[in-house]
Amino acid sequence: MKTAYLKFCPDKTVSHISKEIYGHFSEHLGRCIYNGIYVGKDSKIPNTDGIRNDVVSSLKEIGLPVLRWPGGCFADEYHWKNGVGDKRTPMLNSNWGGIVEDNSFGTHEFFSLCEMLDCEAYLAANMGSGSVSELSRWLEYITYDGDSPSALERKSNGREKPWRLKYLGIGNESWGCGGSMSAQSYCDTYRHYQTFAKNYSTPDMMKIACGPNADDYSWTETLMQNLKPWHTDAISLHYYTIPTGDWQHKGSATSFSDEEYYDTIRSTLYMDEIITKHSAIMDKYDPESKIKLAVDEWGCWYDVEEGTNPGFLYQQNTMRDAIVAAINLNIFNNHSSRVSMANLAQVMNVLQAVLLSEGEKLVKTPTWYVFKLFLAHHDSELVKTSLAAPEIGDNLPMLSLSLSKKGESFLLSVSNCSLDEDCSLLLDPEHGCIKNAQAQILTADKDVYNDFDSPERVSISDYDRFSSDSAFTLTVPKRSVVSLSFEV
Ligand code: AHR
Repeated sequence: MKTAYLKFCPDKTVSHISKEIYGHFSEHLGRCIYNGIYVGKDSKIPNTDGIRNDVVSSLKEIGLPVLRWPGGCFADEYHWKNGVGDKRTPMLNSNWGGIVEDNSFGTHEFFSLCEMLDCEAYLAANMGSGSVSELSRWLEYITYDGDSPSALERKSNGREKPWRLKYLGIGNESWGCGGSMSAQSYCDTYRHYQTFAKNYSTPDMMKIACGPNADDYSWTETLMQNLKPWHTDAISLHYYTIPTGDWQHKGSATSFSDEEYYDTIRSTLYMDEIITKHSAIMDKYDPESKIKLAVDEWGCWYDVEEGTNPGFLYQQNTMRDAIVAAINLNIFNNHSSRVSMANLAQVMNVLQAVLLSEGEKLVKTPTWYVFKLFLAHHDSELVKTSLAAPEIGDNLPMLSLSLSKKGESFLLSVSNCSLDEDCSLLLDPEHGCIKNAQAQILTADKDVYNDFDSPERVSISDYDRFSSDSAFTLTVPKRSVVSLSFEV
């Protein structure tokens, strides 16, 4: 067994971990919305106004704090007017599967979902093929409390009170599917759009500009030169974990070698480097961290499951995905002075989903369990730590961890990515000693997953391999995610 050593000062907190780091993303893509979250009022599957009850309760269990909608690339071809009122106008979803959608899930249904989940709404507005006036009318429709034309239309469509809208993204991947813009032309267009993006009932709405693709540092540099805190509250970042690094052959979700597993871990750890480098650029222009980073698309992206529509991006989710989720969430916690939100792609039936469905059956993936293990990090304070941990193979850190504090309680989340070695982690607080420790674990072979016949192959168990004989020591088994709560 290898040994690692974690030092921390129980009183030294460094930044606030916003619960919105634990956010999710719901796009009109494959079976995320239709035949996923939304089954329609007439479905035999128990629902409330067409929204699956079991989906709502499962997402509430992980305290889903913020939901991004309607895309993704879809957002830049979405025209909201087609999705309100009694008569909906169908549309072609040209990005994903080339199917025609009937627009039965629109603004009212999305905000009802957010109210059922008790979460913040994050709208991605259409800059690519929309207009400034289309966006400003949408905001008036959603947020105006009086009798303006758009508010009256909302009322006649059955919603008297405005909805709360905390986050507005303007343009998605504007360097790609959102318009193939240069950074400079995006900034000019963004500044124009945001001027007319008025929220009438949520004055603290945060505007989010389209940030870089992965490690495109020059995009960030141009944004930071052109956008000031009075234009934008955050910029986004998209980075996906691709095991092979090849978009044409990304690798299978469930069948992969040890080597491909470690390549996946290496690819996901790159998130830390790119956040560090984007943050350094942001620090130059905004040393007070007024403009935040919203990692509003992240997760593993594999080849689709055999026999499924290639445009629907449906993939299974194994213990490998759980380790990836833990690594990323720890990275976001550790960068919480700059990272204020993150949205896993995507919430259901698409990419690294937390829920998968087949007819009326619903499965919680290993990734869902990681969100459950990390719950106590929501709106906590990050504790400064210093870790001396072994490496495996070629410079791959064996452990990923973060430590937070809420009131008197601490939560340590730690994952061991090794496939064959446990690690003994010694915890050394600068003062006091660790007491009232309790732990839970998620562990399985690297390629084990939950499916509709065996929905709980990977799930959380209580865990007691820790001791405080001379020093407090926690065993972190190979390919596991452990959460340890304690007091000092
Ligand atoms: O999540 C799938 C797609 O990935 C999104 O639509 C797009 O923003 C990104 O390229």
